Amino acid sequence: MTQEQWNAVDRYITDLFIPPDPVLDITLQSSAAAGLPPHNVSPNQGKLLLLLAQIQGARTILEIGTLGAYSTIWLARALPTDGRLITLEANPKHAEVAYSNIVNAGLKDIVDLRVGQALDILTQLAAEEVSPFDLIFIDADKPNNPEYLKWALKLSRPGTLIIADNVVRNGTVIDSNSNDPNVQGIRRFNEILASEPRVSATAIQTVGSKGYDGFALIRVIAD
Ligand code: SAH
Ligand code: DHB
Ligand code: MG
Repeated sequence: MTQEQWNAVDRYITDLFIPPDPVLDITLQSSAAAGLPPHNVSPNQGKLLLLLAQIQGARTILEIGTLGAYSTIWLARALPTDGRLITLEANPKHAEVAYSNIVNAGLKDIVDLRVGQALDILTQLAAEEVSPFDLIFIDADKPNNPEYLKWALKLSRPGTLIIADNVVRNGTVIDSNSNDPNVQGIRRFNEILASEPRVSATAIQTVGSKGYDGFALIRVIAD
C-alpha cells in the first residue's frame, strides 16, 4: 500500500463523514501560511477526538501541544458551553496563530491557551490544584512524553481518558537501538504505561494522510 492510496481513502472517508467546515479550513490555511509544520491531526482523526470526548462526556480537557489549534477546535467542540479546555504551547508564533483560530471558531471563552514550556505550566496547574481533567490529549515534543504521562496521571481521576498521538512513528517505535530521541521518548512512554497499575491502556496503528503512525488510549482506573 502506498501513501497515495492512504490519501485517497482518507479523502473518501472525509468526504463522507466530515462536512465542509470553513472554520477548520481557515485554521489549516492560516497555519500553513504562517509556516507552521503540518503536524495537525487529520480531519478524520479530529472527528475521532470529538467523538471520544463526547463518549467520555468530557467537561474539562487538557491538551499538551496546540500548534495552530486544529485538534483544539475539534476537542473544544465536544464541550458544553460551560466546559473548559486548557491547551499548552511553547512556541509563541504557533500560539499567535492558534489564538486567532480559537477566536475565529467562537471558542475563546472555552479555550484557555497557555504559552510556555508544557512542563512549567503543568507544574503550575498542579500547584493551583486544578480539578482533575476528564480527557487529556498528549501531542507535543515526544522526548518529554514520559514526563507528560506522569503529569497527566497527576491531573487525572479514575475514569479520565488520556490519548497520546504518534506512538508508532512509521514503525520505528520497535527499534530498541534507535538513537532518535523521539523514538526513545515514545518507547519509554509505552514502557511506563505498560507497567503502570493505575491505567488500562492500548495502542492502535493507523495509516492515512498523516502517514503510518498510531495513538494510545489510556483509561485511568485508580488513584
Ligand atoms: N495537537 C496539534 C498538533 C501539535 S504539534 C494538532 O493536532 O493540531 C506539537 C506542538 O507542540 C507544536 O506546536 C510545538 O511547538 C509544541 N511543543 C513542542 N515542545 C513543547 C513544549 N516543551 N511545551 C509546549 N509545547 C511544545
Ligand atoms: C510530528 C509531531 C506530531 O504531533 C505529529 O502528529 C506528526 C509529526 C513531528 O514532530 O514530526
Ligand atoms: Mg501528533
